[in-house]
Amino acid sequence: MFELTGKVAVVTGGARGIGKGICGMLTKQGAKVVIADLLIDEAVATAAEIETFGGKAIAVKTDITDLASVQAMVDAVKKKFGPVDILVNNAGWDRMKPFIKTTPNFWNKVIDINYKGVLNTTYAVANDMIERSSGKIINIASDAARVGSMGESVYAGTKGAVISFSKTMAREFARNKINVNVICPGPTPTPLLDDMKAEDAFADKVLSGMDKIIPLKRMGTADHIAAAAVFFASEEANFITGQVLSVSGGLTMVD
Ligand SMILES: NC(=O)c1ccc[n+]([C@@H]2O[C@H](COP(=O)([O-])OP(=O)(O)OC[C@H]3O[C@@H](n4cnc5c(N)ncnc54)[C@H](O)[C@@H]3O)[C@@H](O)[C@H]2O)c1
Repeated sequence: MFELTGKVAVVTGGARGIGKGICGMLTKQGAKVVIADLLIDEAVATAAEIETFGGKAIAVKTDITDLASVQAMVDAVKKKFGPVDILVNNAGWDRMKPFIKTTPNFWNKVIDINYKGVLNTTYAVANDMIERSSGKIINIASDAARVGSMGESVYAGTKGAVISFSKTMAREFARNKINVNVICPGPTPTPLLDDMKAEDAFADKVLSGMDKIIPLKRMGTADHIAAAAVFFASEEANFITGQVLSVSGGLTMVD
């Protein structure tokens, strides 16, 4: 089950946090993983860690907000491993603040990383997937997109855009046997969450109380998200496309 031997997977933002968990679990299922991240030192360290457990991983410095950088990464992957079978759009960024305290520069940064980054990577891998009539695209959005989240207005908007884009691409790519699905993590301890808590007392208060209001009474882990990513990447999920799966311990239960 969920066998990925020989598959080539690109995970954006795979150096740390949720992306690192996804890289580890994909390699355990046999995939060759490309860690496409701005933080090249951390990406190299993650690749080395995976190799010590017998997995196959390389790090390629990539800025997902820059289409040329993304295209160069995809070219390097094709030379090293071959065409991309699995794309996991995981890289993201956020800070918690009321909308009226945000600035256009902040909006641009959030939109560039969380939404345009997904457009760039999808654009860069799509032609090869179409040509081979095969591919899995897994986009990491957020429960903030599904139910809203105080202090995360622009971020929630970009993740909503990721969901709408994913559903549309699932329709466009269905004839090419490319599945596009979305995972919405709930609050998950990662360096991103640590940074948000450290920079803002409101974020610290909200995020520190989460384990009490989550029905399963704990925050998730990167591995919980990774398990869903492995499922969507597998042949067992070939008949699932355009779907949104919340991995949040039951924090959100809307349709
Ligand atoms: N942690 C949570 O509670 C949570 C909840 C919902 C959704 N998410 C989503 O999960 C994903 C992973 O989040 P995380 O918490 O692991 O964050 P993280 O900050 O711990 O890791 C994100 C990674 O993305 C990389 N990255 C950022 N900008 C990039 C760019 N322009 N180009 C390439 N790489 C870039 C970072 O270098 C980092 O390695 C994000 O999309 C985030 O929005 C996280």
